[in-house]
Amino acid sequence: MVDIHAHLLPFLDDGSSSLEESLEMADMAVSEGITAVIATPHHANGIYDNEASRVREEVASLQKLLELRNIPLKVASGQEIRGFNDLLRDYERGTLLTLADSSYLLLEFPSGQVPAKAKEWIYELGLSGVTVVIAHPERNKELAASPEKLADFIEAGALAQVTSHSLTGGFGRSVQKTALQMCRSRLIHFVASDAHNVKARPFALREAYSLLEKEAGKELADSCRRNSELLLAGEAIPYEEPLLPKKRWSFFSK
Ligand SMILES: [Fe+2]
Repeated sequence: MVDIHAHLLPFLDDGSSSLEESLEMADMAVSEGITAVIATPHHANGIYDNEASRVREEVASLQKLLELRNIPLKVASGQEIRGFNDLLRDYERGTLLTLADSSYLLLEFPSGQVPAKAKEWIYELGLSGVTVVIAHPERNKELAASPEKLADFIEAGALAQVTSHSLTGGFGRSVQKTALQMCRSRLIHFVASDAHNVKARPFALREAYSLLEKEAGKELADSCRRNSELLLAGEAIPYEEPLLPKKRWSFFSK
């Protein structure tokens, strides 16, 4: 399995707090059957700034250490970028990273609402050949209440990533229900761990896929698994239209 969103790098944010913890997380990932992790420290979220060059340095040094310790995990560079006013300018300046140098960029919204410029970012980055992957929409209050807004972003070219702990119930029943509903409605293209540590926020990716398979079908779980592999390989992810017509959302979201 490939994990496209995890806070595996030490010292950079509220994820791993030491090299030892990063190595423990890497061991845990391997034991779950994860072969590659895209390290996505927070960037531009008002607390943490981790520009491209810094992330690349940390990835290279962790990868070297993993090889020395014979831990068979590939680490690639990325960022979890909070939508901010100068997003497009900074993309042009080269301080932002796509996921594993692919044409996919992980974008996070604040938990309470969707930024007014969200659609503009999706559209403008799309013109530069970059596809926005919306991080954990099931944890965003506005998208959870109005999933037709997520459908609209997907129709505008974005993709979306659900977090393993949302599926397994780690954030409560309501988030779990929203996550499953978004998956069943084909609004989700990736499952990722958003792992922060080994105890409170581990990977739980295998558990999440098996739950997804049980609740939403093997075909969807397989397609999410394959999409993460395609992304890492720098290949295009097939577009799939959201399943529910937009006008029926209000009925289904009750
Ligand atoms: Fe994250």
